[in-house]
Amino acid sequence: MSVNIAIDGPAGAGKSTIAKAAAKAVGFIYVDTGALYRSIAYYAISKGTNVSDPQAVASLLPRITPELKFIDGSQHVFVNGEDVSDKIRTPEISMGASAVSAIPAVRDFLFDLQKKIASENNVIMDGRDIGTVVLPDADLKIFLTASAEERARRRHAELTEKGECVDFDSVLADVNQRDYNDSHREIAPLKQAEDAVLCDTTELDLGQATEKVIALINETTKTKGLDDK
Ligand code: DC
Repeated sequence: MSVNIAIDGPAGAGKSTIAKAAAKAVGFIYVDTGALYRSIAYYAISKGTNVSDPQAVASLLPRITPELKFIDGSQHVFVNGEDVSDKIRTPEISMGASAVSAIPAVRDFLFDLQKKIASENNVIMDGRDIGTVVLPDADLKIFLTASAEERARRRHAELTEKGECVDFDSVLADVNQRDYNDSHREIAPLKQAEDAVLCDTTELDLGQATEKVIALINETTKTKGLDDK
């Protein structure tokens, strides 16, 4: 039986960086489900489709084969055989992913793929609805969050480092807009599962937050007797 750890939380809370480092430390596969929503947005935008039009986006789905491949321990996202891992990290795709993720047909489409990966591997899966919808029976659920200002500061630093010239206020506006979209959509909105452990990283640096998550995972695998599987 595989061990499943669910990490949910808003954009920019440090989920992917922390989950990736924790997965490496405990020897699990890290699955970034946001990348799957981004890959749908990428395909729709590349075809000139309006990402907010549910019917138009749904009609594209039969033509999209998203795949996650784990190369040297890191996740790569493919759409119809093309590695789009870097291309899906732009502000335009971020907003597009938020829009397509509100479409029920898109969520259904990606649900089976996520379930399959979790049933076949020991995973740390991050997203918005992993603990509430995708893996309701996960061995451990963590809700990772931080204040909107702190998350915007981190995202701004990340984009600046990549050489993208964006001003802080527009990054903060994007964070607030995505928070609103993600938590107010009708289907699978972002919310903390009742049995999730809340982890607020506003005052923690990455190292401290990662340590905390690794400790929670080790505690879980030990308590549940999963550490020898
Ligand atoms: O984590 P991220 O920023 O890469 O996610 C991109 C978008 O996808 C985000 O706006 C919310 C959505 N998403 C979702 O609805 N459910 C998930 N499990 C993961 C991401």
